Amino acid sequence: MTRPYVYLTRRVDDDIVARLAEHCDIGVWERDEPVPRAVLEAEAERADGLYVMVTDCIDADLMDRAPRLKVVSTMSVGYDHIDVAAATARGILVTNTPGVLTETTADLAFALLLATARRLTEAERFLREGKWRAWSPNLLVGRDVYGATLGIIGLGRIGEAVARRAKGFAMRILYHNRRRRPEAEAALGARYVDLDTLLRESDFVVLLTPLTPETENLIGWREFSLMKETACFINVSRGQTVDEDALVRALRERKIWAAGLDVYREEPLPPDHPLLELDNVVLLPHIGSASVATRRNMALLAAEGCLAALRGERPAHLVNP
Ligand code: DGY
Repeated sequence: MTRPYVYLTRRVDDDIVARLAEHCDIGVWERDEPVPRAVLEAEAERADGLYVMVTDCIDADLMDRAPRLKVVSTMSVGYDHIDVAAATARGILVTNTPGVLTETTADLAFALLLATARRLTEAERFLREGKWRAWSPNLLVGRDVYGATLGIIGLGRIGEAVARRAKGFAMRILYHNRRRRPEAEAALGARYVDLDTLLRESDFVVLLTPLTPETENLIGWREFSLMKETACFINVSRGQTVDEDALVRALRERKIWAAGLDVYREEPLPPDHPLLELDNVVLLPHIGSASVATRRNMALLAAEGCLAALRGERPAHLVNP
């Protein structure tokens, strides 16, 4: 019997590649940049499994070039880069890596919230540029996090983990979600409100929804206009959930006070992007889940999902409906 062929679009730890290689022939894109489309297409033609990253667009056209493809396993919790409906229609399983990155991503969301509120990156630039002359009562003053109101849009696993951290900061917690979560309300002391109420009342708005047709452009000019002029907006979900032109305008016109972003409509952020000209925004390069242990756990889980599907079993984290 011929061994299945799995193509990995990025190198992961050697022992994880070796684990896959016990059962499959393996190809790996060795460079630390996204695999070019032409290479991915050529590899897909002979692949039984694709082990992919958020940077790879796995669409119907690619699947049509992949007659043997049985599984697409993504090393991410988000799967908006994969056309799941097209995969399902072709009998291709899609697996992801939920759970293992929850706490790490919540740490980053809260770090970004704190950095934005207290202007940490701006303050560090100020010091490094030799501008620090003396302590001053008005120097780099920010906003208090302790005791403030936090609005979480999308109270899933990561949203709950952010809320747990917020409890330690005595924050009042509001949330908005597709469906109400009574058990989370009880455990976290979070209050369900409609989106407009959340935007009006929150000092910190944290966006954590997955990207779906319903959440695309969820936050635009109308929503920024509802927010307090002292509010901080934090996005750790996907760039496409926000109208970025409206965000730039809201920051420029001080409609909101500041923003902290880990994700963008176009990644990497183009060097001439207007966000780069603003000093009331903290910009991170999509590092929500980037800790050594979590990236390893994600890589392992993606390998397990891939192997299970190729064995004909139901993967633990199957995305297809
Ligand atoms: C995910 O897992 O979806 C993140 O965005 C990548 O770490």
